[in-house]
Amino acid sequence: MAADQAFDRAAAALIDRGVDGAIDCAFVLGTGLGRIADEMLGPVTIPFADIPGFPDGEVSGHARTVSYGTLHGRKVLIFQGRGHYYETGDAAVMRVPVGMLAAFGSPPLILTNAAGSLKAELRPGGMAVITDHINLNGRNPLIGDTGDGRFVPMIDAYDPHLRTRLKKAAAASGAHLGEGVYMWFSGPSFETPAEIRMARTLGADLVGMSTVPEVILARRYGIRVAGISVVTNVAAGLPGGAPSHGETRDVAAAATTGLRRLFRAFLTDL
Ligand code: HPA
Repeated sequence: MAADQAFDRAAAALIDRGVDGAIDCAFVLGTGLGRIADEMLGPVTIPFADIPGFPDGEVSGHARTVSYGTLHGRKVLIFQGRGHYYETGDAAVMRVPVGMLAAFGSPPLILTNAAGSLKAELRPGGMAVITDHINLNGRNPLIGDTGDGRFVPMIDAYDPHLRTRLKKAAAASGAHLGEGVYMWFSGPSFETPAEIRMARTLGADLVGMSTVPEVILARRYGIRVAGISVVTNVAAGLPGGAPSHGETRDVAAAATTGLRRLFRAFLTDL
């Protein structure tokens, strides 16, 4: 993979548009969570389509963008929207957005997503920090990568230090933050009840269609990473569990208040 030039080209496009190099923290905002970026001061906003190597096109009628600016006193880069495996079958669709962070000093990366819950304590509307993941998709964004660097250790992939800080920030902001193991399903169809029973047997607490490839890429490129799931629904077939895209989007949007408070406390203390 000629990775580095692709990262340099993407970074150059951002620098060209005013991203001046200092980034304290980067975020990926998942389905329905884009409003978190509204509180940024003086943001520069760039469509994914203008950045070489970024996934283009729209999701649910919204252009995907990157915003750079100040949030609660810190310089942040916020990806509003992401590329998903289910769009094109490319598990490495987020390789350039993640890998180019190294050109900006490898800031910590906080990934957010909407997820279904398999655990009674993780209720719709609530949030959970991801402790670990299960990937049985048979897909990995590093397939085709070369050299010893592709054999990435995945112990503590979800950075323990960042997880502690997020837990502290949740306590400080009065938001409840549960925790759980996230299992990646390719989507775009939701899981069957039998698949959810399997996931539960295997130790999953949360299911979703993103994040896992980005975590693998982040570890490949030396970026510390954490994941926050906004629980939008009970997983398919469990009592009350009949997920739909509309519900996912609406519950996620309603849960942004807690996420905003969490990130305010997290950034203030960074
Ligand atoms: N399954 C997969 N992805 C999801 C779900 C779900 O139940 N909820 C939100 N994203």
